[in-house]
Amino acid sequence: MTSILVTGANRGIGLEICRLMQDRGCTVFATCRTPSAALSALGVNVIPGIDVSDPVSIASLAESLNGIHLDVLLNNAGILTRETLDDLDFERIQKQFEVNAMGPLRVINALRNNLSSNSKVGIITSRVGSIEDNGSGGIYGYRMSKAAANMVGKNLSLDLGKEGIPVILLHPGLVATEMTGRTGIDPSDAAQGIIERIDELSMDNTGTFWHAEGYQLPW
Ligand SMILES: NC(=O)c1ccc[n+]([C@@H]2O[C@H](COP(=O)([O-])OP(=O)(O)OC[C@H]3O[C@@H](n4cnc5c(N)ncnc54)[C@H](OP(=O)(O)O)[C@@H]3O)[C@@H](O)[C@H]2O)c1
Repeated sequence: MTSILVTGANRGIGLEICRLMQDRGCTVFATCRTPSAALSALGVNVIPGIDVSDPVSIASLAESLNGIHLDVLLNNAGILTRETLDDLDFERIQKQFEVNAMGPLRVINALRNNLSSNSKVGIITSRVGSIEDNGSGGIYGYRMSKAAANMVGKNLSLDLGKEGIPVILLHPGLVATEMTGRTGIDPSDAAQGIIERIDELSMDNTGTFWHAEGYQLPW
């Protein structure tokens, strides 16, 4: 792969994916709402002001990428709030749907002209969105929105498959970022695993759900 676009790239896993792809010599397009000092220091193509839940913002992203081919489109931006049955906040649940599930669909749809049969699409969802794997309950909005993101990816694998574009759903592991209060593995290790899975993505394994460590996850 020679060009990649990563959403939510100012920190966490997205930032580390940009760093590793830049080290590989790829052309990296890093979208974010507000650039961080760490992202600005990388020397990649930073596209600021991109909120994946905002249609106007996504339209401006498509405009700024007019005519640019993407080998990889990686949807990484996401949010986690932790609703319990005793503390349901439907506005927060809805916001997670907008960012985690509708966000990737909006971005991929807006950038279809930047993809060709040589391109690959990834969506970072979460094992927490697996229905079969759910043994602990709670976390309503995140679980629901990531399950929906998995459906977005599976569905796109069928529709974009007609154009020869494979789609993969990815769980990065439990990663030490702001999202988890810095609990888990190093973000660069998770980023490395995600890149390896994208390297292995083809039309033969499109529409599947993977742990970054290299094994398939149940829906
Ligand atoms: N960390 C884990 O253990 C873990 C496990 C499973 C899945 N994941 C998934 O991995 C992805 C990356 O998470 P992370 O751990 O790196 O979390 P993080 O450090 O909290 O980073 C989240 C990123 O998403 C961006 N973002 C949030 N809302 C956005 C919006 N509306 N529009 C555009 N960007 C937005 C954030 O930008 P701002 O700085 O502007 O907020 C930030 O760049 C997420 O999809 C997450 O659900 C993480």
